[in-house]
Amino acid sequence: MTNIWDEIFSDERFCSDLNPRKFVKDNMAKVLPSDGTVLDIGCGCGRHLVYLAANGYRVYGIDLSDVALAKADENLRKFGLSAVLQKSPMWEIPFDRTLFAAALAINVLNHGRPNEIVKAVSAISERLLPGGLFLITLLTVNDYRACGQQIGPHTFVCDKGAEKGVLHTVFDEQSTAGLLKGKFEIEAKEVASGEVILPTGEQLNHEFFRIRAVKR
Ligand SMILES: C[S@@+](CC[C@H](N)C(=O)[O-])C[C@H]1O[C@@H](n2cnc3c(N)ncnc32)[C@H](O)[C@@H]1O
Repeated sequence: MTNIWDEIFSDERFCSDLNPRKFVKDNMAKVLPSDGTVLDIGCGCGRHLVYLAANGYRVYGIDLSDVALAKADENLRKFGLSAVLQKSPMWEIPFDRTLFAAALAINVLNHGRPNEIVKAVSAISERLLPGGLFLITLLTVNDYRACGQQIGPHTFVCDKGAEKGVLHTVFDEQSTAGLLKGKFEIEAKEVASGEVILPTGEQLNHEFFRIRAVKR
């Protein structure tokens, strides 16, 4: 089956940003490289793997896209860095029961159906060390990707922009709290928003939660 992300990442424009998010840099500064390994879930073309490996962390990455994993590997090699990479869905974490000091899921969890996202959060919780850090972004119900074909109460197949045809499940305050309840303690949560302008000139609202959570 064709993976839509293979198609997206085959366009160089969607794989060229190697700048780590400030949210990741600021929060990872609290975890020492010597504290253990870090897992990047849905690592894409590896911008956070490169940043973390360059800063001395032992990094592991999973993604469902072969193209993303190949590009992540290429980007790491460019800087003389490496990571343990494997093709895997977010709800199945490989690597022989390695426990992680931190995990990132940046712009990733939304791409599952609700039951898959719940499974992914459980899988991540099982593989974090006690007190392990979990950095997440989650699109809110106000994001433009809650558009196109609605296939569930909060799940859509978007019909616009760079992620046209991609499934997104969006979150509100209640569903976000419910997702992490019992497994993670939310230490910080903020809403970030911005505007996306399509080549057609259409202006769209981009909105997401940035969450720092720790394993209970
Ligand atoms: C918007 S990109 C974000 C990439 C990366 N986290 C970043 O911040 O640059 C979403 C990524 O999630 C991956 N993805 C989508 N569904 C997935 C799934 N079910 N399991 C694992 N990865 C998935 C895609 O292949 C893609 O690399």
